[in-house]
Amino acid sequence: MPHAELRTKRLVLRPWRDEDMPAFAALNADPRVMEFFPKTYDAAESAEGMARIRGHFATHGFGLWALQPLEGGPIVGMAGLAVPHFQAHFTPCVEVGWRLASAHWGKGYATEAARAALAFGFERLNLNEIVSFTTVHNLRSRRVMERLGMLHTPDDDFMHPGIPDGHPLRAHVLYRLPRGAFGASQTV
Ligand SMILES: CC(C)(COP(=O)(O)OP(=O)(O)OC[C@H]1O[C@@H](n2cnc3c(N)ncnc32)[C@H](O)[C@@H]1OP(=O)(O)O)[C@@H](O)C(=O)NCCC(=O)NCCS
Repeated sequence: MPHAELRTKRLVLRPWRDEDMPAFAALNADPRVMEFFPKTYDAAESAEGMARIRGHFATHGFGLWALQPLEGGPIVGMAGLAVPHFQAHFTPCVEVGWRLASAHWGKGYATEAARAALAFGFERLNLNEIVSFTTVHNLRSRRVMERLGMLHTPDDDFMHPGIPDGHPLRAHVLYRLPRGAFGASQTV
């Protein structure tokens, strides 16, 4: 069965195509985009990343979609739902996430795409809760979570098990969105 494609006012969230690889690799090689990740990815690491994303779609039927502006042109980034592979006090869970090319920050694309992904998670997957997490200092990403109405409780803060002890990016915040809190006002 083909994987779902979601549509918003300005974007299509669609499955990945081989021709997206250069834009995906450029996204992951940009130090500005990867400021809050342990490192940028080289071309081989981006190819592995793309294979992991496609594998996630094959396993779960959803994942981080490629973001294609309706007006055309190359993809502007990715956003969607993912099942984290590490263990923490809030797993198993489904997270909502995003990564945009810096030329496309400040347009509301991440929030718009995330709302469509949340609607898919609550309405089509029937999830009871969707979470999001990021390193404490990633304020741009935290602002997206807050715009989406996600709630942060300091008791949920955690040390990311995939990042070494003592690393400055290890301390993470968790935001939660319960099904009932995703209201009609969120509809895109
Ligand atoms: C996190 C990230 C996606 C946020 O991007 P963003 O452009 O700030 O977020 P949005 O797409 O929701 O856009 C909101 C901004 O667009 C502005 N905006 C402009 N036009 C808009 C519109 N039509 N609708 C909504 N917002 C609009 C908003 O005012 C807001 O700006 P502000 O934060 O300065 O107030 C982006 O910084 C990024 O990709 N970072 C690197 C990857 C990363 O860290 N990912 C998260 C890991 S957990």
